[in-house]
Amino acid sequence: MKNMDIDSHVRGESVYVDDIPVREETLYGAVFDSPIPHGILRHLDVSEAERVDGVTKIITAKDIPGENQIGIIMSDEPLFAEDMVHYSGQPIALVLAESEKRARTASRKICAEIDPLPPLTDPRTAADQGQFITPPRTFCLGNTEAAWHTCDYVFEGCAETGGQEHLYIETQSAYVYPTEKDGIRIFSSNQSPTVVQKAAARVLNIPMHRVEVNVSRIGGAFGGKESQGTAWAVMAALAAFTVGKAVKLVLNRHDDMRMTGKRHPYASDYRIGLSKDYGITAYEVSFYQNAGAFADLSPAVLERTLFHATNSYFIPNVRATAYSCRTNLPPNTAMRGFGGPQGMFVMEAAIARSAEALGVDASVIQRKNLLRQGEEFPYGQKANRSQAIRCWTKAGKRYNVGAIRKHVEAFNAENRLHKKGIAFMPICFGISFTKIHMNQAGALVHIYQDGSVAVSTGATEMGQGVNTKMVQVAAHVLSISTERVKIETTNTTRVANTSPTAASVNADMNGKAVEKACLVLLNRLKGFAGKELGHGARAAGEWIEIKDERVYDKGIKTDLVWEDLVMRAHLERVDLSEHAFYATPGIHFDPKTEKGNPFAYHVYGTAITVATVDCLRGTYEIDAVHVVHDFGNSMNPIIDKGQTEGGIVQGIGWMTMEELCYSDDGRLLSDTMSTYKVPDMYSAPKELNVHFHETQGSPLALFRSKAVGEPSFMYGIGSYFAIRNAIRAARPEKEVPLTAPMTPERVLLSLYDATRQAKENS
Ligand code: MTE
Ligand code: HPA
Ligand code: MOS
Repeated sequence: MKNMDIDSHVRGESVYVDDIPVREETLYGAVFDSPIPHGILRHLDVSEAERVDGVTKIITAKDIPGENQIGIIMSDEPLFAEDMVHYSGQPIALVLAESEKRARTASRKICAEIDPLPPLTDPRTAADQGQFITPPRTFCLGNTEAAWHTCDYVFEGCAETGGQEHLYIETQSAYVYPTEKDGIRIFSSNQSPTVVQKAAARVLNIPMHRVEVNVSRIGGAFGGKESQGTAWAVMAALAAFTVGKAVKLVLNRHDDMRMTGKRHPYASDYRIGLSKDYGITAYEVSFYQNAGAFADLSPAVLERTLFHATNSYFIPNVRATAYSCRTNLPPNTAMRGFGGPQGMFVMEAAIARSAEALGVDASVIQRKNLLRQGEEFPYGQKANRSQAIRCWTKAGKRYNVGAIRKHVEAFNAENRLHKKGIAFMPICFGISFTKIHMNQAGALVHIYQDGSVAVSTGATEMGQGVNTKMVQVAAHVLSISTERVKIETTNTTRVANTSPTAASVNADMNGKAVEKACLVLLNRLKGFAGKELGHGARAAGEWIEIKDERVYDKGIKTDLVWEDLVMRAHLERVDLSEHAFYATPGIHFDPKTEKGNPFAYHVYGTAITVATVDCLRGTYEIDAVHVVHDFGNSMNPIIDKGQTEGGIVQGIGWMTMEELCYSDDGRLLSDTMSTYKVPDMYSAPKELNVHFHETQGSPLALFRSKAVGEPSFMYGIGSYFAIRNAIRAARPEKEVPLTAPMTPERVLLSLYDATRQAKENS
């Protein structure tokens, strides 16, 4: 089944927040934000802005009836700055006007008197000054101190990764109107309806039951609307609550890029020890996370960096420490992989550096250390049904890596100005929210009198296809046509207390809740059918089966079909609605010992990437990415392949071209589509093969079909090392820093240096 939204997307009929027909007297909001990254807010002069024609009101912290607070993990983030500003782009006020244009014009007339303070932008400097969001955390396995003496080789160095703009197509948007009895209805593009509901209740000082949050669909999120859809929804809610009218707030692209947080940049130090036969004996790593000005989700992202610090390798002695550093950038946040990619990059960097020093191919070290069945992760969980080696071996065979290598070598021998490089990238990604309590989901299923079915869950659809999978589940369990099933919007009044649609777990968790609810309904209908067909009241359903919309009695086809069954059940006063709840079983984690069994299961796979570098221009192409990926028993290969391909291209973007540039005083310079380069068709791999390594999956995966949202993102790391290997083919003697993204500028700097260049030119 292809994604059920495709047709309406293509026809432009899908409704996003900005498409909702507005009510009469709707007001439009424009945000006034801090022009500088750090300072004391002395005075706000709104008098000139207020005089702009059509301006209704200018909302500031003073208008908040409850708390000026939207922090998701820690209470450190005001909705509107009051006495201090902590980043350039921090909201200070919201202008309300009769049109968006007027609101924007007026917001430019607001004057903030701010005494500037020195800004911090670098995480290492922040760490030196003790600016931490939370105390550091350390994951340990074995004893690295004792292990160093036993190593034959030890290497150390630094590795750095940059941030990444989410660049969802639909910018941050909310539309809010007051409802009767002092309630509020919020239409918002966000992954976390309950988070928005809770924050709005807190800011408005009203109980959560007076706030309804509705999400129809999201025009892309990628983590950027897990916590950061909240501010805009709550601002619009506050405004609507204050003036008693509908309020619309839709950020334009430029404001969205300036004001919202991104993937966390990391600076890291590693030390790696190997034995003569290239086994990794010990690994120590320190991560300096650039958290930005407020905690946001940084502590959770930091945690996942530690969980994935050893990627898909078993290393007997590990010590990984992570620091969440407070800087004067917009609070950085969830983005596909949620800190995992940052941890895995450093592991791969350490292996690459070791391989270069030892004169072997990195794949020799990678292959040697792949996780086997039963081996332990530094957080105590044991690898169960590890597919690391199988995927690696299959990739090598299937894509004939020997022939690829020969081709690369021959090409490099023949060409001076173009060089090719090849890199393996194995991945291992843990599936579950790293916060155990978040691993819960709910579903509400109604069967209407005509046999049509409506399903509500806590999951939000952001293009990843979760709704389509929910249709498949309901249709499969009830054995009815998928046409009979409709997925409702995600709404806090139908499914309450939901976790964000994040961590790739939403098909699993919400799907299991749908499955449970449908099973209860199915059994209820079977019992009813049994009675109707003359079986005794007790266990009447035992003989009954519903197959393809028809009732079978002891295996024999009856005349009773789905629609009649449902109608008769209704007339006999059988409840045709069911709510179900799912909580992932068997997972636990003790933050005191930093040990446990936090993940329902892991997803594995291997990518082989080939890149060609133009040594004159510093440009490059990704020739091919060949993947063998562990999908378990895929329930929707079209969607799963799409998720995998999308993740890979987004990962390549992060590793090779997407570069966030800040001025020295912390202002984002790459704040437009013309200054921030994302992958397009030309930068996508010329060849992208995804082979489905079908396994038994995991019983904790929906229909044993493993989670697909995030894991493939990390295959993109292979593109960095493929380009690096091409550079090394051109300049084997040059030390190339382990800094990402590998932009054409960095490629050139890696190939040439000023003195050498001068010599060659003369
Ligand atoms: N795919 C599309 N098209 N758009 C998105 O915003 N977000 C990704 C991934 N795939 C995203 C996407 C992220 S960050 C996550 S966590 C998962 O989808 C969330 O959905 P799932 O749990 O249903 O996989
Ligand atoms: N992924 C995404 N969001 C989260 C997680 C996670 O692992 N933990 C808490 N919020
Ligand atoms: Mo995804 S970063 O967990 O929203």
